[in-house]
Amino acid sequence: MSSFSKAGHLVSLLNKSDFKILKVFASSLKNRQILNLSTLSQYSNLGQSLVEHHLERLVKFGLIGKSNIGYTLLVTGLDIYVLKILSNRNIINAIGPQIGIGKEAEIYLAHDSLEQDKILKMFRLGRSSFKQIKRKRDIIFGTSNWLLLNIETAKKEYDILNYLRNSSISIPNPLYRSFHCIVMEPIYGSRLSEVENLNDPQSILENIIINLSIAYHKGYINGDLNEYNILVNNDSIFILDWPQAVKVDAINADAVLMRDVKNILNFFSRKYNIERDIGNTINIIKGI
Ligand SMILES: Nc1ncnc2c1ncn2[C@@H]1O[C@H](COP(=O)(O)OP(=O)(O)OP(=O)(O)O)[C@@H](O)[C@H]1O
Ligand SMILES: [Mg+2]
Repeated sequence: MSSFSKAGHLVSLLNKSDFKILKVFASSLKNRQILNLSTLSQYSNLGQSLVEHHLERLVKFGLIGKSNIGYTLLVTGLDIYVLKILSNRNIINAIGPQIGIGKEAEIYLAHDSLEQDKILKMFRLGRSSFKQIKRKRDIIFGTSNWLLLNIETAKKEYDILNYLRNSSISIPNPLYRSFHCIVMEPIYGSRLSEVENLNDPQSILENIIINLSIAYHKGYINGDLNEYNILVNNDSIFILDWPQAVKVDAINADAVLMRDVKNILNFFSRKYNIERDIGNTINIIKGI
């Protein structure tokens, strides 16, 4: 079971005081990641022995880590806390199947209180480097930094999606962010990589270029453009996955744009025998 599906199951097993304690950990993540009994008691407004009792449960469930210097929030602990927030706010009330697992995130189909489909993107950035951190250092040190990195990345993607949505660009519609999780509207389509044969590949490519140009004029280059990050539905395309986007005035902007455009042109050349000049395509995107 993935960490997040486990979290969905655990939400129902936890009580109010368990969540009070998780809240103290989550709220203090930026400043203090290792907490002791008296701090937890002070911020949760629960007596020390009660805190100890709940910590024991949270440690047993794998939500909190314990060491000789104190207690710390683990990944599943933050997953659970986020799920609780989303459900309290009626943003997500049920989690469905996992529909994607990428290098950086786990993607789930979910439902809101009206049983409308929503998409949950839970960041899992640095899984492999985290293992190295864990090997080299105390687990407590590694976990907190890992969580902060994922929170920052979710925030970056959410802010960019929100900023770009005011243009005519085709991207997922962002609804909410909580810690390392983004809730979006679903896009019903297939990954460009998985479509057997496009009806009109030329017009799909043109459509992609138009969208890259809109993003560019709004100040962003996707930075991870490939056939897996583009969804296709008939003649419509949607560009996903923006956390690594680069600003057009960044020092490496031209190199990143070149790589993105190369990836896409190579794909259309390989699969559909469409040849397009890269320099000319970049000029069109830049509007020069
Ligand atoms: N809003 C959405 N609607 C429908 N499907 C989505 C949506 N967002 C993501 N997906 C699905 O989940 C997959 C992974 O999403 P995304 O590319 O955002 O995550 P990732 O983990 O960063 O991926 P990568 O492997 O590129 O790092 C997508 O290829 C797509 O199939
Ligand atoms: Mg992706």
